[in-house]
This record gives sequence, C-alpha cells and structure tokens, in this order.
Amino acid sequence: MHRILELPFAEWSPSITADESRRVAGELELGKIVYLPQLRFKIAETERRFLDTRWLSGTHKSLSYEPQRAAATEGVRGAQGAPQDLRALAAMIARFQKEALALVHALFPQYAPHLRVAPTSLRPGNVEQHKLSWRKDDTLLHVDAFPSRPNRGERILRIFTNVHPAGAAGKGARVWKVGDLFEDTAKEFLPRIKRPIPGSAALLRTLGVTKSRRSHYDHIMLRMHDQMKRDPAYQSRPTHLTFGFPPGSTWICFSDQAAHAALSGQFMMEQTLHLPLDRQYFPERAPLKVLERLRRRALA
Ligand code: SIN
Ligand code: FE
Repeated sequence: MHRILELPFAEWSPSITADESRRVAGELELGKIVYLPQLRFKIAETERRFLDTRWLSGTHKSLSYEPQRAAATEGVRGAQGAPQDLRALAAMIARFQKEALALVHALFPQYAPHLRVAPTSLRPGNVEQHKLSWRKDDTLLHVDAFPSRPNRGERILRIFTNVHPAGAAGKGARVWKVGDLFEDTAKEFLPRIKRPIPGSAALLRTLGVTKSRRSHYDHIMLRMHDQMKRDPAYQSRPTHLTFGFPPGSTWICFSDQAAHAALSGQFMMEQTLHLPLDRQYFPERAPLKVLERLRRRALA
C-alpha cells in the first residue's frame, strides 16, 4: 500500500515527535494519503438526524459551514430547515472544523501558522446517485483544479472523515480509487498539454470566469484534470488502487496532487485548507515545482 500511509492515532490532537512529523509530512507531500483508521468524528445521538439529504436545499450536493456568507441559514450554506435545527447543524460542522484543524496542527506544526481555512462541508448524498457532466464527475480519477479558482501553486489540503452510521461490519465504506504518484501522472499527461493562448488569462479575468489571474500552472492543472477524466484507458488501468475508508475513519491528502476518485459511499465530512507551498516541509515536492522541473521553465 505504498500510496497510503496508515497512522494509529485515535485522538484529534495526537502527540507526535518532530522527526515523525517530518517523515509523515514527507509522504503526504509526495501525494500519498495519510489514513487514520481509528480516528472517528463523534456524532451525538441528537445529531444523527443530520445524516440525511433532507437538509440540502435546491440542487446543493453538500452543506458547508460559512458563518459569514450564510447568516440567513444560521451559517450553513446550501441548507434548509428550521432555525434551531440549522443552528445545531452548524454547531456540528463547526466542531468538525475545530477537530480537523487540531489534527493538522498536531501532525504538522510547521503548517499551523500559515493555513488558510476554507469552508467545512458535510456531504450527505450517495456518491453513485450524482451523475454529472464528465468534468464534474468525481467518480473519475482526477487531481483537484477548479476553473474559477486559480491558486498559482498554493496547496489544497483536505481532511476527510467517514460519518456513515452503518451498523454492520464491512458496510458504509467510502470507496476511493487512487492513482499513481503525481510525478508519474504529470509525466504521462504533460506532453499532451499545450501552452495557454497568449492573453487568455487576462481575458478570463476580465470576463469574470476566474476570480484571480489564471497562471500557466493553473492552466496545466486544469488541463491535467480534464485529460485524466477524459481518458478511458487511464481510468480503467488495473494498477490503480481501490481502497475503502470505513465508517469511523479519517484521511488526509493534498487533493491537488493525489489522483483520486470517489467510487461509492455516503455521509462524509470534509475540511479544506490552503497552504503556501514554501511552508511545506519539502517545497520541491509541490506540484508547481514538479511541473516546473518537467517543463524546464517557471510556471508561476
Ligand atoms: C473528490 O474530492 O473528488 C471527491 C471526494 C469524495 O467525495 O469522497
Ligand atoms: Fe476531487
């Protein structure tokens, strides 16, 4: 299981030595998944009702804790329900945010002062029931890259926890497919990716397609995301790993680097964090640096 590194911790603020921290970060920064099979996010009896898609409003796939943006729905974006219920739902998601942050601070203290906290989500839907256009279909292997959100190399760190209430053993796993390490994937797809059309970044910004300037790096990452999803031979390659994260387990990865697909499962919580790549333990392992080495030019 060289793409997954298992850690035995059962607490959200585990003790770890500086050497061990550096070793684990080194694996994570290669694009491996850090898997904590015994780290459960505890859901109270009174919160069990939130594991249900009835709290989703409209076409939303997930509920996110965004106190500033979603004041009208008690801080939960994409939600519907009575105010007192939504307040309890917000409190549950906020608790996960606190624990996810505590975990990252404990495991990787060097990241701690530099993390930018993005929304925390609860995804109550069944992965298999959301058939979307190929570009948005996360049942296909991909690295995360978003058309409207260029990041110019800033990292996307995600903490996932499976909160499926399954009683029976072997039920309720969130099954992922995991691809090759980033450098191999980049070597495979990079030759197919052309340079951006001169002037296109400024145009996309002016038109409001992107929220900030799309760099050459962003261009390559988006093309890689698309090319991976559109290549049936790549998608069905038997050497990719299929792995089920059981209910009550937690895992962490840089999702802009670890090739991943969600094949099945329901009820997951997720925290996104952003980290400047120069705050990594091994900055040269960042996708931007890997792509710059392969392209032999600056891409920021
Ligand atoms: C994704 O981040 O692409 C999907 C992860 C999941 O839903 O398990
Ligand atoms: Fe993804």
